[in-house]
Amino acid sequence: MRRALYLLLCAAGLVQAAPAPKDGALFDPVASVVMSPRCINCHQAEAPRQKDIGVIHAQQVVRGKDGHGSAVLHCAACHQAGNTAQGKVPGAPNWHLAPLSMRWQGLDKKGVCQQMRDPARNGNRKTGEQVIEHMKTDPLVLWAWNPGAGRTLPPMSHEDFVKALEQWADAGLPCPQ
Ligand code: HEC
Ligand code: HEC
Repeated sequence: MRRALYLLLCAAGLVQAAPAPKDGALFDPVASVVMSPRCINCHQAEAPRQKDIGVIHAQQVVRGKDGHGSAVLHCAACHQAGNTAQGKVPGAPNWHLAPLSMRWQGLDKKGVCQQMRDPARNGNRKTGEQVIEHMKTDPLVLWAWNPGAGRTLPPMSHEDFVKALEQWADAGLPCPQ
C-alpha cells in the first residue's frame, strides 16, 4: 500500500526517485562501523588504544610477538572471556590485537576498504562471503555491541551492519575512489 502510494507520487513527479548510490558508496556504512572506536582501538600497530579518543593503552601494554602482549604482561592478565569489574575491564574470548597486516591505524576509508578485500592482508579471505563472515559472527566483533561500562556503541545496530555488509559483498566489495 505504502509502495503504491510512493509510486503514485513518483509518477506525479512529487517525489524524485533517489539516485542509485555509486558503487564505492556502499562501503560508507561499513566504514562508519569499522572505523568507530570500539573496532579501531584493536586494529593498531604497536599498542592497543582506549576510549573514544583512542589514547594509547595505559600500563605500557604493547603488541608483543603475537598480538597477545609482552612476555610479562599478556592481555589475558586483565581481559577475561567477558566484561568484568562491572564492565570496566572489557572482555571477550581470545582478546588480543589484530595482526599487523590488519591494522587500520593511519589508513583512510579507501585504505581500510582495500585492506579488507586483499587476501594477502586480510587472513586469506577470498570471496565476499569470506570477507564479511568474520564480522557477522566473531565474538571480538560482537563485543563492540556489548562493550560494558557505558562505552559508546558503533553507529548502527549489528543487524543493520550485516545488511550493509551483504549489500557491499553482493556488489563485489567495491571501494571508494
Ligand atoms: C579485542 C580486539 C579486537 C576488537 C575489539 C575488534 N577486532 Fe577485528 N580483529 C581482531 C583480531 C585478533 C583479528 C584477527 C582474527 C582472524 O583473522 O580471524 C581481527 C580480524 C578482523 C577482520 C578480518 C580481517 C580483516 O582485517 O579484513 C575484520 C574484518 C575485523 N576484525 C573487523 C572488526 C570490526 C568490524 C570490529 C568492531 C565491530 C572489530 N574487528 C573489533 C581483534 C579485534
Ligand atoms: C593491566 C591490565 C591490562 C592489560 C595487561 C591489558 N589491558 Fe586492555 N584494558 C584494560 C582496562 C582496565 C581497560 C579499560 C580502560 C577504560 O576504558 O577506561 C582496557 C581497555 C582496552 C581496550 C579499549 C576498549 C575500548 O574500545 O574501549 C582495548 C582495545 C584493549 N584494552 C586491548 C588490550 C590488548 C590487545 C591487550 C594485550 C596486548 C591489553 N588490552 C592488555 C586493562 C588491561
